[in-house]
Order: sequence, then C-alpha cells, then structure tokens
Amino acid sequence: MLAATSSTRTSTEQNRLVANDRKRALFRLSFFLRAFILPSEAGTAEPASTPGEENLSFLVATKSKFQAIRGTRDLLPPETALWNRVEGTAREVFGAFGFGEIRPPILEPTELFARAVGGETDIVSKEMYSFEDRDESSTSLRPEATASVCRAYIEHQMQQLPLPVKLYYIGPMFRRERPQKGRYRQFFQIGAEVLGGTDAPAIDAEVIEMVMTFFDRLQLPGVQLEINSIGHNADNCRRGYVAQLTSALEKVKDKLGTDSQRRIETNPLRVLDSKLEREQPIIQNLPRIADHLCDECKAHYAAVKRQLEMRGVLYRENWQLVRGLDYYMRTTFEITAAGLGSQNAVCGGGRYDSLVELLGGPPTKGIGFAIGEDRLILSLQGAGKVTTVAARDVYIAWMGEHAQSTAIRAAKSLRAAGISVELPPVGQKFGKALERASKLNSRYALILGDNEVAEGSWTLKTLADGSQQKFSEPELLDFLKRSL
Ligand code: HAM
Repeated sequence: MLAATSSTRTSTEQNRLVANDRKRALFRLSFFLRAFILPSEAGTAEPASTPGEENLSFLVATKSKFQAIRGTRDLLPPETALWNRVEGTAREVFGAFGFGEIRPPILEPTELFARAVGGETDIVSKEMYSFEDRDESSTSLRPEATASVCRAYIEHQMQQLPLPVKLYYIGPMFRRERPQKGRYRQFFQIGAEVLGGTDAPAIDAEVIEMVMTFFDRLQLPGVQLEINSIGHNADNCRRGYVAQLTSALEKVKDKLGTDSQRRIETNPLRVLDSKLEREQPIIQNLPRIADHLCDECKAHYAAVKRQLEMRGVLYRENWQLVRGLDYYMRTTFEITAAGLGSQNAVCGGGRYDSLVELLGGPPTKGIGFAIGEDRLILSLQGAGKVTTVAARDVYIAWMGEHAQSTAIRAAKSLRAAGISVELPPVGQKFGKALERASKLNSRYALILGDNEVAEGSWTLKTLADGSQQKFSEPELLDFLKRSL
C-alpha cells in the first residue's frame, strides 16, 4: 500500500497518489496477464483494453485451476536426476578446460539485449519478456546470456585478470516463441564464453573441441558440427558481401516468402538460413560469403579448420550458417543431434570480437556457445541412453513403539554413510511396507519390529530375490557399505 505519511500533504494529493499507485499496479497486472496468463495463440481473446478493477475481480472470483504458463514446464524427478547428471558432466568437462562458473542475474536492462543482440532481431523485436519496473526503467528476462557475461566482464573489470577469461553458465532463458517440441518459452542453456586475449584460431577450435568432448562424454546420438565464417563488418568483407546479396535478393524478391521479403530490408543474411522448402533453389544461386571474405578473415577461417583437424574434430562447412544474433563475426557454428525433429540445433555459437566494446568496455576478443539443455535431454532420452529410475537403497519397514526410535537412529547412521533411506513416518504392517518398498524401487528392506529391536538382530531383505539375512547394527552398516 501507498505510504503518503507527510502531514503537509492534502487529502487531494493523497487521493492522487493512491490513484497513481493503483494505476501502476494495474499496469503491472496487465503486463503479467498478457505476457504470462492469457495465451493469445491458443485462441483465448486478450483483454480489449487495459484491465480495470472488473478484470481483477474476475480473477478473484474464478476458481480456475492453475497450470504452468504456456511454453514453461515443471521438471520433475526422476527426470531431474538426468538434468543433474548432464550439468555435473558439463562442470567436469568445462573445468578440465579451465573454465570457471559465472551466475549472472536473470533480469537485465532491456537496452543491454537491444544493443548486443540487435534491435531488428526476432529475439529482441518479438520475443523478449520486458516490463516497466517500479522506477519506470525497462527491464527484461534474459533471452540469452552472452550479453550478460560481457556486461559482467566490463562491470568487474575482468580485463585486469589473466587473459583470456574463461567462463561458463547454466540457467534459464526466456523467449516468447511459439512453443513446440524442443522449443519453450522458458528453456535452459549451458553456455561458455572466452573473453580477452587474442583471436587466435586455436581458441575457436578449443571451444568447439570442448563442447564436442562434452557431447561425446554424454554419448549424445547423431552429433553433427557445422561451421562457417561470416567475416567482419568492413566494405572489403561482410559489408561488401551484404550489399551484393541484397541486390541479388531484390531481383528474386517476388519469389520469396513474406518473412524473407521483410528480411531483405532488416537483415538480408538471415534469408540464407530460411527453412522454407520452396526458397531453397533460389538461395542456392545467391552469392556466397566465402567468395567475399577479406584476406585476414579468409586466413583466420582456414586456420580454424586446420586447428579443428589437429584436434580430430569432424566438421561440415555450411555457407548458409549466419546465426540469428547481430554480434557475430568470423567463426560461426551450430551442432545438431538426433531425435529432435525440426528443432534439432542443440548448440549454437561463434566469435563476437566487437561486442564488449559495443557495450562500453575495452577492445576485447570473444567467442562462445550455448547448448539448449532441454533439447540435449530430449535427444538423450530419445536414444534410450538414460535410465532414470528413482531408487532408494534401503526402505526401513518398522512397526511398534520401540522400533521407531531404533529406526530413526538407523536411518541417521545409514544416511550419514551416504546410503539413501526411506523412513516411513508411521509404522506399517510388514506386508504393506514391503509393497511400498518395491514401488519405490528400493534395493533392500530393513525389517525392524519390537522383537528385532529387543534381540539386537536386524533382518535385511533383498527385494529382487526375497532372500533375507540377519545382522547386528554394526555388521549391517558394514555390509551395506560394501554392497551398495
Ligand atoms: P542461440 O542459437 O540463440 O544462441 O541459442 C543457443 C541454443 O539454445 C540453441 O541452439 C537451442 O539449442 C537453444 N534454444 C534457443 N531457443 C530455444 C527455445 N525457445 N527452446 C529451447 N531451446 C532453445 C545464443 O543464445 C547465443 N547466446 C550463443 C552464444 C554464446 N554465442 C556465443 N556465445
């Protein structure tokens, strides 16, 4: 609520402040309704005008069930075990290449992405979740993290650290795209960036080698790496090429779809990665960037390919690979995997040597990539490479007053030894307890009745074959440590 406490304020002033405060609250509510709650593509009508109090009372009055917002989802056990394994492997592999973790915020100034990713890109012009914050500044949920990493590099003066600075991140990104298999509005990326130092082609190759090593470690099926060089922004290089491409596109404009026609004006390079079947023969006849690279960019690209070969990394060249973000120059790459349908890019990246400067920092070389973790998981699951069974090592089937305190003590010492234990909150008949133990995929059931407690001899049942063994308390811990 508004705090208009000054005794000098008149009641008219107070009313005006209350009205303003309420207007701001309704504006915010309207933003969340439009962005998150009312799914416009699903055919639900959006509110005709800014919601007033009627809309608010409508919300309160309806007892509708809540559901995850369109394009977002809950990740649940046992699948989350796979997510953790994937992220753990990323930490291991990236750590072995000398990368440290950065955790940038999810909220950033809208202007950061407009400047870095590009105001004309789909990401910035159509897909960002942006809102006016309480101080009336425009804030966005991050659609990607390269801009954030560069912002952090500048903010923390990382150019003073030993260069290059090698950082990786894991976390959610937000883009308001049309949801489909492998495409979500909240999705996760595992990304890495190398900043500062040189643009030596060995850096490009090592970054690519690192992501390929990671995929290899996970046994990701059908991995294919495509690379390209899009040169740099100069008349004797990409700018000259784009001029030629634009005039070639103007000549075939009538045969192109509306998206590509629009892109001739906004971003002609993006026409090259159109997926429209009927545009493919036209695209094949367009001028190619490889024929227009300046000598330095040509030499850099040739050296990147040599460096990849030295590392035994297999690649395919794809002259149409231009990527959808404005900051790229020279090396671009994408990696696809099996089982993903049309959304089969699991990783995209490239070099962005002028981005840090564009954001107000010192001249800095940069290259990186981001892996779509949701797609990576889908591909692993599709290949049946993963068994994600949530299992307990031991289910403690206890019954009786004395048994409960022994069961609590047993659970504590087994858990301290790293053994996973299910301890039911109330005593159960042994038949019921064993049923539940199997449902939870427990390996053993520890049977603790008052008799077992009195005798100090505990029964351990192996659920797979029904066999039983008796142990004293220390013997049991010893046995479980050896057998699990
Ligand atoms: P990007 O190509 O926009 O690049 O995204 C990288 C990867 O994120 C994609 O290849 C895809 O796997 C995944 N991804 C993108 N959008 C979605 C979505 N809506 N749902 C599910 N997965 C998605 C970047 O974001 C750059 N920042 C990469 C980079 C880092 N370049 C240099 N450094």
